[in-house]
Amino acid sequence: MSDAIERPAGGAPPWGYASAPESTDVVRLEDRYGLFIGGEFVEPKSGRWFPTISPSTEETLADVAEADATDVARAVDAARDATPAWQALAPAERAKYVFRIARQLQERAREFAVLETMNGGKPIKESRDVDVPLAAAHFFYYAGWADKLEYAFPGRGTPGPVGVAGQIIPWNFPLLMAAWKLAPALAAGNTAVLKPAETTPLTALLLAQVMQEAEIPHGVVNIVTGAGETGAALVDADVDKIAFTGSTEVGKAIQRSTAGSGKRLTLELGGKAANVVFEDAPLDQAVEGVINGIFFNQGHVCCAGSRLLVQEPIFDVLLDKLKDRLQTLRVGDPLDKNTDVGAINSKAQLTKIAELVESGVEEGAEIYQPECDLPERGFWFRPTLFTGVSQSHRIAREEIFGPVLSILTFRTVDEAVEKANNTPYGLSAGIWTEKGSRILHMASRLRAGVVWANTFNRFDPTSPFGGYKESGFGREGGLHGLEPYLTFDGGPR
Ligand code: NAI
Ligand code: MG
Repeated sequence: MSDAIERPAGGAPPWGYASAPESTDVVRLEDRYGLFIGGEFVEPKSGRWFPTISPSTEETLADVAEADATDVARAVDAARDATPAWQALAPAERAKYVFRIARQLQERAREFAVLETMNGGKPIKESRDVDVPLAAAHFFYYAGWADKLEYAFPGRGTPGPVGVAGQIIPWNFPLLMAAWKLAPALAAGNTAVLKPAETTPLTALLLAQVMQEAEIPHGVVNIVTGAGETGAALVDADVDKIAFTGSTEVGKAIQRSTAGSGKRLTLELGGKAANVVFEDAPLDQAVEGVINGIFFNQGHVCCAGSRLLVQEPIFDVLLDKLKDRLQTLRVGDPLDKNTDVGAINSKAQLTKIAELVESGVEEGAEIYQPECDLPERGFWFRPTLFTGVSQSHRIAREEIFGPVLSILTFRTVDEAVEKANNTPYGLSAGIWTEKGSRILHMASRLRAGVVWANTFNRFDPTSPFGGYKESGFGREGGLHGLEPYLTFDGGPR
């Protein structure tokens, strides 16, 4: 940028952005959506429905069925009934179905992206460029494995499916989490009952329509909507495996209730990742990585880089750069193609974020928020930085799951490792340095399932993802992600 351009105080550029709203015409909403069981949409036996809203306008988009234990049992029965024929299918035939889902997602990509943004509040540029393409990529990737399972795990015996998988997913990446769960399960010959989060059921229900178009045999995929009680009913139902992504608190409850049941379990829970910037790091690149690490998807990301650890000599210059960059983030209408930070997913999540930010101020950390106008309706939170954070502060220990970055400093490599690992979580971490040997040294000492170097929040279907400690266990993605859905030589599930 030329120095000749004058910037007003505060660093905001002198020009503004014209609004560039994505059209919602491509989305055709039903007034209400039943449960997807046995290949068709059915009325809930519970007789109960609940509204699902847009968090950016607070308008009701549709009513959605609330499944009770009877409805869940019905979905599990449909999955069980579909199991023998699905398992008997030649693996290459099964692969064709999974490929079809991937191609349908690509064909209807715009519709999925717009609906994801309407129901969840994330910026359209993210749902369009990240969520939907990655969801399709997961189906493509696992479709490729369906007829190669014997080669995937050499020496392990003959691979076979586990049976019926109960899958419970959160609201931060609704379609992508559905893909992470369904793609490996189906490719390995399992059938599934999926429960989307209560605030974001709509793209999963659109995915149910894709299942119909792709002519997935009835009952192979079932989708039951509802809140925690519906999830708990699925955990207690006659399923062979539970895959859960969500809060550590609920993950622990699920682990308790599946203990001794013989049900397989994988848990992908919360995080409090350290993003560690060394003094030799390429600073402008690091700033982009730090910003992306915490403000991507409003910080509703389990692997978000929510703790920034900065080496002391570069603290002042990095902080200035971060504050400048924060000023340029565009917060608002998620359907606007220029928006960087969209709506907070729900009122409850907004309350949680606000409460934790308040605790940061009360405990003595220094808060920085850029000036920006927030829309009147909907749920919004300003991008926020905290400096003067100590390890004991709640904002350094607890998952905020919002656009809030806690900044701490360190002097030595050992101190960086010590501080990064000083957390009950262990999902992800980032390292920024020019020195390759330091990357390897750090990566082997950080207790995190994923460690990024000179980048952050990169996802690929071929790469396993998952945590240590209170971030859960089991891996999703890559070959590792197939294993929880397989038995070997008809052995124990
Ligand atoms: P949650 O863990 O309650 O919800 C996740 C999913 O679990 C939803 O589908 C929900 O309906 C279901 N669920 C809730 N209670 C259940 C139960 N007893 N048995 C079975 N399923 C159940 O998460 P919530 O309340 O939406 O968010 C609270 C906090 O959890 C967030 O502020 C964030 O810190 C963390 N979180 C982490 C996520 C991650 O990706 N690791 C995703 C969502 C939330
Ligand atoms: Mg909850």
